[in-house]
Amino acid sequence: MKIVSVVGARPNFMKIAPFIKAIRKYNELNGNDIEHHLVHTGQHYDDRMSRSFFEQLEIPDADINLGVGSGSHAEQVGRTMMEFERVIKDIKPDWVVIVGDVNAILACSVTAKKEHIKCCHIEAGLRSGDMGMPEEINRLVADRISDLLLTPDRLSTDNLKNEGVPDKKIRFTGNIMIDTLEKNRQKAANLDINEIIKENSVNESWKGINKLAQESFAVMTLHRPSNVDTREVLEPIVRFVLDEVCSDMPLIWTIHPRTRKMLEIFGLFGEVMSHPNLLLLEPLGYLEMLKLNMNARMILTDSGGLQEECTVLGTPCLTLRWNTERPITLMEHGGASVLVGNNINNIRNEYLRAKNKSRQPVKPELWDGHTAERCLEAILDFKADN
Ligand code: UD1
Repeated sequence: MKIVSVVGARPNFMKIAPFIKAIRKYNELNGNDIEHHLVHTGQHYDDRMSRSFFEQLEIPDADINLGVGSGSHAEQVGRTMMEFERVIKDIKPDWVVIVGDVNAILACSVTAKKEHIKCCHIEAGLRSGDMGMPEEINRLVADRISDLLLTPDRLSTDNLKNEGVPDKKIRFTGNIMIDTLEKNRQKAANLDINEIIKENSVNESWKGINKLAQESFAVMTLHRPSNVDTREVLEPIVRFVLDEVCSDMPLIWTIHPRTRKMLEIFGLFGEVMSHPNLLLLEPLGYLEMLKLNMNARMILTDSGGLQEECTVLGTPCLTLRWNTERPITLMEHGGASVLVGNNINNIRNEYLRAKNKSRQPVKPELWDGHTAERCLEAILDFKADN
């Protein structure tokens, strides 16, 4: 059997790593039955957004890099489709496997299906209901046309059933990203927070701050266009964290390239850089971010993956979004996250509550570190049944 799996952007890497390991393990036991090709679309290309994840998570170099780079969504998707079509015409795989919700999944699922190749979506069925979110469009298209939909939780399975997807296309396999978390927990625990700060600092703030103790600091990540692309939204968030969070505790802000660019455009970057209690860090590697999450008093974020990691680690999480495609991470479903949107009063109220909350780890069903094996099994079974 030939499988082409596709990655494009940072959140894909921790999802593909365990899948590739599962293939390797299967091949060791079954005489290299599966011929696997890894395709990187090249949407993320900086070392810190891509290479460092390949190294830390021991992902083999991509066999093919499509080199699509940055651009508008139409440019990224269009370029990916043109390049990916050439690749699959050449390799003629039995399956194309896509993970998560970045632009690669839309481009590659459509291209695969037009070439009559079976497509499997790992992390299928998530729905935010927010069509203003590019990822929601990617998810809807990929799930509509894929042959095999592997869901991370039962809520996602229900979403697919409610959309009329036949049962035989759906398998509840669990959350593949948690395979990576479980595998790397100990390695991350061994890191030193103060070394992470020193080595990844954008500025010199760390020199003026005492060594950080366990749960004495907050961590923030922001990158969604809805939070960072307009001054009206971004500036009040920046004011809140500088004036209120930073006067309570040190705040580590790991800065995404998009957000850094927007802070510079809005003339806010200098102020962020010079605040004495704000530690501005470059985008971190997987292990470094996991270590911060394991030790933070709370996380403020608009990332989907961090909401899930906070749930498993129990870190109180303020999700700066009005909706989430991952409701299982919300407190009302037993998780660690609360939606605060980008309204400062909401953010403040939940921030004050989170400050007094203790860490409460949760394990949703099948977030057990063995999702990748179940995903591969589902693909192999599908072949047997059809
Ligand atoms: C993408 C994903 C998003 C995911 C996020 C994680 C889509 C629709 N979005 O958004 O779901 O949560 O990745 O990071 O696929 N840039 C660099 N270096 C890079 C990559 C990007 O400097 O290696 C800069 C470029 O200026 C680019 C901007 O970041 O224009 C945004 O990158 P892009 O890939 O368009 O989307 P993300 O916001 O990263």
